[in-house]
Amino acid sequence: MVKVAADLSHINTPSKVTGHAGKDSLAEALKGAHTVVIPAGVPRKPGMTRDDLFKVNAGIVRELAEGCAQYCPKAFILVISNPVNSTVPIVCEVFKKAGVFDPRRVFGISTLDIVRSSTFVHQIKPQFEPHANRITVVGGHSGATIVPLLSQIKQVSLTAEEIKTLTHRIQFGGDEVVKAKDGAGSATLSMAYAGARFTNALLEASVLGKKGLIESTYVHLRGNTGAERNMGLTGLDYFAQDVELGPEGVANVLALPDLSAEEQRLVGIAIGELKGNIAKGVEFVTGGSAVPAAKL
Ligand code: 2OP
Repeated sequence: MVKVAADLSHINTPSKVTGHAGKDSLAEALKGAHTVVIPAGVPRKPGMTRDDLFKVNAGIVRELAEGCAQYCPKAFILVISNPVNSTVPIVCEVFKKAGVFDPRRVFGISTLDIVRSSTFVHQIKPQFEPHANRITVVGGHSGATIVPLLSQIKQVSLTAEEIKTLTHRIQFGGDEVVKAKDGAGSATLSMAYAGARFTNALLEASVLGKKGLIESTYVHLRGNTGAERNMGLTGLDYFAQDVELGPEGVANVLALPDLSAEEQRLVGIAIGELKGNIAKGVEFVTGGSAVPAAKL
């Protein structure tokens, strides 16, 4: 930790970098934090799904969430640790239990799916500018729960076959990295880029007051402005979709656009899988169903 802090401290920003390790340092590390990004946990090995990481990562995330609920209950909590579809519910349930839950302030970072979408579309349609065009990705952050809305792309036209191939590549893009690293982990550098992109957007919206910043992200729906339609459509408490960011975090959950028939089918599959992922995270904290949050 200290080594990593020394490394990071040379980056030319006015920030002070400190390193802390172990449960006993949680108070020191978290007290009064404005934003907490949680990437902790074990990565996948070839052949593993993100869900296979639950056993180890769920406990790590719960412990960190308990620390956040105690030492920085107002912080924005940005969850990278997989399986995100379950670890975000873990954070939310820990916060509910502690009586400090604000659904506007907890995010699952699914930005790498958006980043991959732009990159992969650009690779087959070079005129699609990957940096300038954002593709909406809904559902969750794991395999079939990742549903890129490629039918919404206006800049280039894609055939049904191209959409099918791209969708599969985006859904299982993480596996390409796991395979390439051959036992040495999963995406870290592209994930760091994606995490920084989302964190910077949130900081620009919350600290600098920048308006109109939209990113796809996995959030707790109930209690968030605009979320009712997506709750009604999916029957889920958590879903990734475009969200407008604002001073308090989620400013507005955007309704899903008109989906193609194929996207509707894929969203149906995602919903089925997400139900189990969400229940698993919730149950890990409550031992049963979700705790109703007082304010929601
Ligand atoms: C990925 O999508 C690690 O979940 C990460 O590659």
